[in-house]
Parts: sequence; C-alpha cells; structure tokens
Amino acid sequence: MIEEVKEKLNEDLKKTFQDTKSLEDLKVKYLSKNGLITKLNSHIKDVPNEEKREFGMKVNEIKNEFNNFYNEQKEKIEREILNKKLENESIDITLPSTKIPVGAPNILEKLIEEVEEVFMSMGYDVVDGPEVELDKYNFEMLNIPKGHPARDAQDTFYIEGEEILLRSQTSPVQVRTMLKGKGEVPIRMICPGKTYRRDDDDASHSHQFMQIEGLLVDNNISLSDLKGTMNILFKRLFGDKCEVRFRPSYYQFTEPSVEVDVTCVNCGGKGCSVCKHTGWVTVVGAGIVHPHVLEMSGYDPNIWSGFAFGFGAERLAMMKYGIDDIRVFYNTDLRETKIFDREDEE
Ligand code: DAH
Repeated sequence: MIEEVKEKLNEDLKKTFQDTKSLEDLKVKYLSKNGLITKLNSHIKDVPNEEKREFGMKVNEIKNEFNNFYNEQKEKIEREILNKKLENESIDITLPSTKIPVGAPNILEKLIEEVEEVFMSMGYDVVDGPEVELDKYNFEMLNIPKGHPARDAQDTFYIEGEEILLRSQTSPVQVRTMLKGKGEVPIRMICPGKTYRRDDDDASHSHQFMQIEGLLVDNNISLSDLKGTMNILFKRLFGDKCEVRFRPSYYQFTEPSVEVDVTCVNCGGKGCSVCKHTGWVTVVGAGIVHPHVLEMSGYDPNIWSGFAFGFGAERLAMMKYGIDDIRVFYNTDLRETKIFDREDEE
C-alpha cells in the first residue's frame, strides 16, 4: 500500500505545476480527508504492532516529501505571478509626464492693477462705487438730465422703474467722491469697475465691460495737467516710445472735452489695420470738469477746477496683448482663454 502511494507520488513530483489551481488539486489528492496520505495515516491502526513504527515513519517521510514539494512549487508559482505582474506594471520613463495645468493671472485684472499702481504712485486713491446706481448719479448730476439725447448711447438695464439702473459708466463715482469730499481738496481718485450697456455682444461690444474712471480736483487744474498725467500712464503701460495726443470732443460733464489717442501699439505709429492706417488709437474720453458738475456736487467752480477721464479696460488689454475679440474676457471656455495664459512678465 505504501509503495503504491509512493510510486504515484513520484510520478506526480515529476510533473510541473504552472498554476495554484493544479497544485491545490494535487494537495487534495494526497492530503484531503480522502487523500492518499491521509488514508495511509488512518491505516496505521490496522498495521501489526511491530510494524507500526516503521510504517509510521514511512508515511511521515512521504508526507514530508509531499509538503516540501508542495511548498517549493507554491513559492515558485507565486514568484512567477509576481514577476509577470511587475513586468506588466513596469514604469516607462520615456512616457511624457502628466501635465498639471498652472493658472495665470487674469490679464484684465493684471492690466487694472498696473493702472492702479501708476496712479497710486502719483497719490491717487483707488475707490469703489456701486454697480446698481441711481439715475441721479449715473446721469443727472453729470449734466445729462432726463430726455437728453446723450442717454441714447448709454441705454442700460433698469432695476426698478426709471430711477435705479446698472451703471452705464463709472463716472457716477466722480459725483459720489465729490459729495463725500464735502468741498475738501485735493481729490485724486481712480475707480475701476464693471459697467453695463444694452449692447448686442460682438467682437468689440459687450453688454458688460470694465471702465476705469479718474478725477482730480484742486487749484488751477488745466488740460496740460491732464496731458502730463495721460503721458505718464501710457508710457508706463506701453513703453517710452508711446506718444499721447488730444483731439477735441464732447462730453456733457467736461468742458472742454477731449479724446486721448495713443501711438498704435501694433505698428508703433507707422500705420496698420488696427489703427486704420493713422498710427493712432483712441483710448480715453476726458476733459476739464464742467463748472456745473462741480457746483452740483458742492465744489465752487470759481475756486476749484479739475480734470476727469474714463476708459475701457478691455480695450487697453486687447491692445497690450493683441486680442481681437472682447468676448474672450468673459468666456469661460478654457480652450479659448488658454492662449492668453502667460507667465508674469516681471
Ligand atoms: N464715461 C464716459 C464714457 O463712458 C467716458 C468719460 C469721458 C469719462 C470723459 C470721463 C470724462 O470722466 O471726463 O464714454
């Protein structure tokens, strides 16, 4: 009986086992409840006493042989499985790395901050005003009474009746600042902020855009002060070669009024499609604060004078960064805005 099992085992030990399943089957064959070795073990009791010891030893030998083989094979199979797994998982260092998208400063905010820095260096305050504004401040106290044709170009969104609206310009902050100033001078402020108009959106129009307003009130303020200030601003924004020129214009709250042109950034003043071959681009509306506007806000025009200006922030950012569609600033599609991501130039 022992010999039989031994023979079978010897046969089996010659085989190679590739997977745990067949190895476990082998274990069942020898060591399960009805396994061949288990059967030998339970046969001991039937062996005559004098042979019991030898029989027992032989069974043990067979069992050990089996166990050694089983353990060896098991280890071998497990090692192979692990090696295969490692092979498949091996790291390919030639693969391109995963790119982590890095954000960039919003170029509109960046431009506004640059403008703020220039004015703060000249002693200006940066102030805020409400976007939901009274008709009184947005129009009336800027010399644009009800029914004035200038309102047509600044049609906006009304909140309640005709008196509360989304401001169509940042100029009402001039009025608010003067009222708050209670006749004290000097007033030096700029106010960047959102403005709204009932415009259909296209490449150069947006129903919402950013303006930067400026106001200075003091003694003997003239157009030359305004020109000097504009010169400093645009040379700082666009470089020393940038020139500034004034053209006569008309605004209800300034007299005289001017348009401020700067050297076309695209062609350096030579003339191109951006500046319609003039070499100049109009960027600011400005002028000397109208005496009536000063008066309405509590400043005696016989004593005080001032200049004011206002410009669109997107326009400047578009010039500075060569953007030809204003909608880009308000588009949340990262694929479109990504091209304007850039490292800080400083
Ligand atoms: N608020 C004007 C506009 O939206 C721009 C402007 C012109 C502002 C002249 C001023 C100014 O302060 O003096 O067109």
